[in-house]
Amino acid sequence: MSSVKRAIYPGTFDPITLGHIDIIERAAFLFDEVVVTVARNIGKNPLFTVEERMEMIRESVRHLPGVKVDNFNGLIVDYAKTTGAQAMIRGLRAMSDFEYEFQMALVNRTLYPDMVQVFLMPHEAYTHLNSTVVREVASFGGDISPFVSTAVVKKLKEKFEKKS
Ligand code: COA
Repeated sequence: MSSVKRAIYPGTFDPITLGHIDIIERAAFLFDEVVVTVARNIGKNPLFTVEERMEMIRESVRHLPGVKVDNFNGLIVDYAKTTGAQAMIRGLRAMSDFEYEFQMALVNRTLYPDMVQVFLMPHEAYTHLNSTVVREVASFGGDISPFVSTAVVKKLKEKFEKKS
């Protein structure tokens, strides 16, 4: 068994925000390797392709040496098994996240009891943030620099310029 402590951090990341980066930095402090993985949420219709989202994540986590970027299609527990991850990271911003995360955590634990699920709290400056809000502000030409990395600001501008 590998002694490397590896965690996966799955999400839609459409796009990655400073709140996600805050969680990744905290996870990188705890684990040898953190794999940020772009997952498919069947209830969502993303603005960016998987490749675009991965590229924005790569550019946003360059300062973190133990962090890798990947994607997967299927069940998160199967992905954890094949990558040999011992833990899965999720962020908890507010009580409103709890019910959804609790349900998902119990399903994942039933399917794969060996995977430890770790919930991290981002800095309070990011508790109001989500990717939908960022996309909406960007779509109307608002300033999104307080919410996302410079790489993501650029990609969002390009995306909405193309659409208009
Ligand atoms: N800072 C800012 N925003 C954050 C955040 C943080 N720290 N943490 C979460 N969010 C936001 C996201 O931006 C996202 O916003 P949006 O809804 O406006 O796009 C929202 O909170 C939830 O996002 P995310 O963490 O990306 O979760 P998700 O619900 O989109 O994805 C999966 C959940 C992909 C991990 C889950 O569906 C999954 O595991 N799918 C694979 C299939 C599977 O195994 N299903 C069974 C699971 S029980």
